[in-house]
Amino acid sequence: MNIDDLLALAKRRGFFWQAAEIYGGISGIYDYGHVGALMKRRWESAWLSFFVDTHPDYYLIEGSTVLSEKPLVASGHAERFNDIIVGCSKCHTFYRADVLLHDLGIDVSEGATPQEIDDMVKKNNIKCPKDKGPLQPSKAFNMMLDLHLGPERTDRGYLRPETAQSAYLNFFREFNILRKTLPMGLAVIGRAYRNEISPRQGLYRMRELTQAELQIFFDPESWEPNLSEFGKRSVNVVLYEKKQDRISIKDLVEKHNIPKFYAYHMALIDVFYRDVIGIPEEKIRFFEKGGNEKAFYNKVHMDIEADIESWGGFKEVGGLHYRGDYDLTSHSKGSGQDMSVLVGEKKVLPNVLELSFGVDRNIWMLIDVFFKKEGERTVLSIPNFIAPYQAAIFPLQKDDTIYNMVDSIYKRLRPYFKIGLDESGSIGRRYARMDEIGTPFCITVDYDSISRESDKFDTVTVRSRDDKKQVRLKIDELDSFLKKNTAFNAHDYVKFY
Ligand code: GLY
Repeated sequence: MNIDDLLALAKRRGFFWQAAEIYGGISGIYDYGHVGALMKRRWESAWLSFFVDTHPDYYLIEGSTVLSEKPLVASGHAERFNDIIVGCSKCHTFYRADVLLHDLGIDVSEGATPQEIDDMVKKNNIKCPKDKGPLQPSKAFNMMLDLHLGPERTDRGYLRPETAQSAYLNFFREFNILRKTLPMGLAVIGRAYRNEISPRQGLYRMRELTQAELQIFFDPESWEPNLSEFGKRSVNVVLYEKKQDRISIKDLVEKHNIPKFYAYHMALIDVFYRDVIGIPEEKIRFFEKGGNEKAFYNKVHMDIEADIESWGGFKEVGGLHYRGDYDLTSHSKGSGQDMSVLVGEKKVLPNVLELSFGVDRNIWMLIDVFFKKEGERTVLSIPNFIAPYQAAIFPLQKDDTIYNMVDSIYKRLRPYFKIGLDESGSIGRRYARMDEIGTPFCITVDYDSISRESDKFDTVTVRSRDDKKQVRLKIDELDSFLKKNTAFNAHDYVKFY
């Protein structure tokens, strides 16, 4: 599937499209339609059950998206959350330097300095792609979106550049309200904002994005999750300046110096993508960033990458970041509130392990990976618990008694499931519409369902999306059938330490 096909499907079927599209749209800003919003909510809730609700000391909080200047000066974002940009001296179009060079086939490492960029521009004699004008020297460009609050607009604020900050700012209060134990996890699912110079590729580089992030606060001297739970599990990983390999969790710790708590979470993330979501093994990997490619706050930094055809190969959909004590040290200094805590008798300044996921990118990935063309048929075989609608009901014939039965089944299932109703067009077209939005089950009411003489009275057909097989079920069985086949229980996968 290519980007245009995916975007066309997303628009046609109610997933997402550019915001304010009737005015021509805004670059890098998207709205989710009724189907996309349901799917996003289901992914978020599976993420939350799996990474957060399975642990007794991990919690979801909801921080504000508007922050004042001080915390973002303390966190380093005001000074260092930058992209390098180059502008044309003639037409004044600006480009993100690494994107411009990459498009011309020149690879740039993520942490390249303005000087290195200028050298490459000079060496390769690069001009403005629009009008061939000479390029100005490159410069750092801060990606935060700033706000001017108050009646005279004099109070500087920012839209948060990552949800992570909300967790750090609330750590101290939450630690004291909660059980005063480490590790303690605070998760945030919400919007973050970045003034991307070259928003592109649909939901890849966005100016307003949703993140699902879990910040685990822990004592590095005593946190040793039990690796035996993952047995001999191996993951695909590209270690810094090495080739991709399949390495066991045990070897990552023993032979490659990856901290135990870090390797444990690599396994956990691998379980989420492969066992829970069903991404094929060869399509998911970790990619280690080192040197100045690492984000400025990280000690160990791996991107979680998925092989996404419409984006041309492996792309970042999340990250696992060992941030050390960077965040709590910075905010202790910036705010004057010492954030070291007493755990029993011991005074600890907690370290942070961050599990960070780009929700929009994950939604895009699901469509890319699970969308299939089978002859004339197009079907989105996403996991049932992520499907926007769990089922749809169709009357097979135009008949009042059939309509009444459809109506009563709909009302009966509606409190527990999201059910589509479709009466228009041939049955084939109705199946096709539901296949394209990933509805796992289509229920059909026919003459047999309503004829008392028939041995199929009070039964309906249930057709499965993936194999198109139909079974006849009693109406009374529908509830438990749907529950069994669309529910997600994270505890089947995670047995916490
Ligand atoms: N919190 C990590 C990130 O925004 O990339």
